[in-house]
Amino acid sequence: MRTCPSTYKTRYTIPRDDRMYVVGGSASQLLSKELAKVLKAKLAKTEIKRFPDDECYVRIDEDLDGEDVIVVQTTWPDKNIVELFLLQDAVRQFDVSSLTTVAPYFGYARQDKQFKPGEPISARALARLIQIQTDEFLTVDVHAPSVIDWFDKATARNIHAYPAIGRHLKAKGIELVLSPDEGRAENAKRVADVVGCDADFLVKERLDGETVEMAPKTLEVKGKKVAIVDDIISTGGTIAKAAEQLKKQGAAKIIAACTHGVFAKDGLSKLKEICDEVCATDTIENPATCISVAAEIAKATKD
Ligand code: R5P
Repeated sequence: MRTCPSTYKTRYTIPRDDRMYVVGGSASQLLSKELAKVLKAKLAKTEIKRFPDDECYVRIDEDLDGEDVIVVQTTWPDKNIVELFLLQDAVRQFDVSSLTTVAPYFGYARQDKQFKPGEPISARALARLIQIQTDEFLTVDVHAPSVIDWFDKATARNIHAYPAIGRHLKAKGIELVLSPDEGRAENAKRVADVVGCDADFLVKERLDGETVEMAPKTLEVKGKKVAIVDDIISTGGTIAKAAEQLKKQGAAKIIAACTHGVFAKDGLSKLKEICDEVCATDTIENPATCISVAAEIAKATKD
């Protein structure tokens, strides 16, 4: 039993027992189902639809009084943010025992500071709004971990997907895990530790939002099965540059793996041309989703 330090703390505690419901937002249906299964919780029946003017309607078709409730909804793209607020509000219409909000992919985390005068701190704006209605907040591999510090009224934690990605790559017989830039080298090392192989990194320079350069580096990849691991794949430019180097140096198989498969524009098809496999977790649902972070989230709800 944990006491929750949120705005609801005088009223609620968070007991972890079988009185638990998972409410899945429309952006996180796969993960919600999997999470309910892992937690042996009930998956709430919901109605979520759009009005003709595209405003969102949600309804929870359950009695949540006295229950511990987990709402799961990725905050990207924008319309899913409003849906999350409506789901939280719907949950708060019941006398729930606790509400945990899980935003598996925290959209806007890349604007975690003012890069130019006059800009918002978008990640903070989002954090301030999400925490209003929740006791606890969980996210996965948030791009800027400092985002968690903006949650000052709810318990907030960042969970890592590397155990799940590592398990997947181990089953694929990966022999080297590569990070496309030095900043993410530590994460590649954690994945490699789960796989039981070596890790290395490339040196990336971002020229603009869609263009990256990769410094040449000799790697011991000839005849090896190599995975390139990143937190986000957006346009696919970063991974494509890394994969080009691996191809030239004779890698036998290249798997691109990420936590968040944003795949902006034609990012996924571009990568499928150069990589043998592209896989992403279920923090964002798309055709590359083949790894679940449900076990990692479930574990965090019990910590
Ligand atoms: C950057 O810091 C991130 O870790 C990713 O490398 C980046 O978001 C990937 O973007 P793209 O797929 O557009 O190259």
